[in-house]
Amino acid sequence: MKSSILDTTQPARATKPLDLAWVRSQFPSLSRQVNGYPAAFLDGPGGTQIPQRVIDAISKYLSTSNANTCGAYATSRETDQTIAGARAAMADFLGCVADEIVFGPNMTTLTFAISRAIGRELKSGDEILLTHLDHDANVSPWRALEERGVKIQFADINLDDCTLNIEDLARKITPRTRLVAVGYASNAVGTINDVKKIIRVAHASGAMAYIDAVHYAPHGLIDVRELDCDFLACSTYKFFGPHMGVLYGKREHLAWLQPYKVRANTNAVPQRWEWGTLNHECIAGTTACVEYLADLGRSLAECPDRRQALRLAYAAIQSHERKLIERMLRGLREIAGLRLYGISDPAWMESRCPTFAVRIDGHTPLELATKLGNRGIFTWDGNYYAINLTERLGVEQSGGFLRIGLVHYNTEEEVDRVLDGLGSP
Ligand SMILES: Cc1ncc(COP(=O)(O)O)c(C=O)c1O
Repeated sequence: MKSSILDTTQPARATKPLDLAWVRSQFPSLSRQVNGYPAAFLDGPGGTQIPQRVIDAISKYLSTSNANTCGAYATSRETDQTIAGARAAMADFLGCVADEIVFGPNMTTLTFAISRAIGRELKSGDEILLTHLDHDANVSPWRALEERGVKIQFADINLDDCTLNIEDLARKITPRTRLVAVGYASNAVGTINDVKKIIRVAHASGAMAYIDAVHYAPHGLIDVRELDCDFLACSTYKFFGPHMGVLYGKREHLAWLQPYKVRANTNAVPQRWEWGTLNHECIAGTTACVEYLADLGRSLAECPDRRQALRLAYAAIQSHERKLIERMLRGLREIAGLRLYGISDPAWMESRCPTFAVRIDGHTPLELATKLGNRGIFTWDGNYYAINLTERLGVEQSGGFLRIGLVHYNTEEEVDRVLDGLGSP
């Protein structure tokens, strides 16, 4: 880790530890068995499991209030209220106001929408700075602007620990840089980037900052005001909600940028960025997912409001995840022929989340994932669309990495199971 001290917007310390039994009881899928083994869901970075209340909210919406928006009758009005409620929930989740929240099918689609709109304002020779650490959803939508003459630059990584090379990044911001697009956390190797600092550097040069918070959202509280980002995108299915994407945009940007949209759609902010009919049932599930996290916080201490409850929830989540990280790193060190890609220095634990990319001599990542999968342990192999990174590290041609991705519902026992699985023939 060569960059300066991490300056993320972390929540206060948890007053009480996470009640893991309560947490796990919320997720019906966690009791699944596979081949006689309890299923261990270590595939959170690809999408987390869902609490029962989210499933119930989706089902209730479809059973009672299913309609299109803005009609003069009960179910349509209920749909309008469902959407307004979810906007308020996501505003609490991200630390902004409700009309800065845009819903869409997923982060990738929302990012293309914004990149197209920003592209309208750019001239040939303008520059956009991306990174080698990012998921391709925060790369290709910006690279698409090369056809307009926009020049794309890439900030490099430190190869030893897969952190961003901040000096390289700062050097590549020029007076022509219009936007810096960077991930909050890497979905492949688990690095948490100092996005607050990167945003400050971008703004100092007059560039906007677009943050991909998809991988960070299940692990840490996001505060868009404190970060001062111009845009931030995340996906509810990565933090215990349904398959959907959410975009935060500063109100002024959502107003002045021109979306590609149909004429009949309103010009109001934020709806002008939401095209066609949204996924109302998943929007209903989104409120329930934010409430699940808030209840986790409320179970730890009295909370005056939902934002404070979320703050406490994430403090407890982080201290539980820290234990899992330390146990996993200790165990991985003992496995012969294993190489970890990412931060392992105990002094830098705050700069990583519990996402581990590994390779073991003599085995492809697919072989490892298959072996674990047969034992009911769900992990991923490949590049997970972080293709700049697998290419930069020279592992793209040989199957990428095995990714073990933990979230707060995972247990120390599950960590031991995956370590045993990797260590045994
Ligand atoms: C870091 C990161 N960014 C972006 C995405 C794309 O998100 P979505 O599937 O919502 O388009 C993913 C999905 O895995 C991701 O992990």
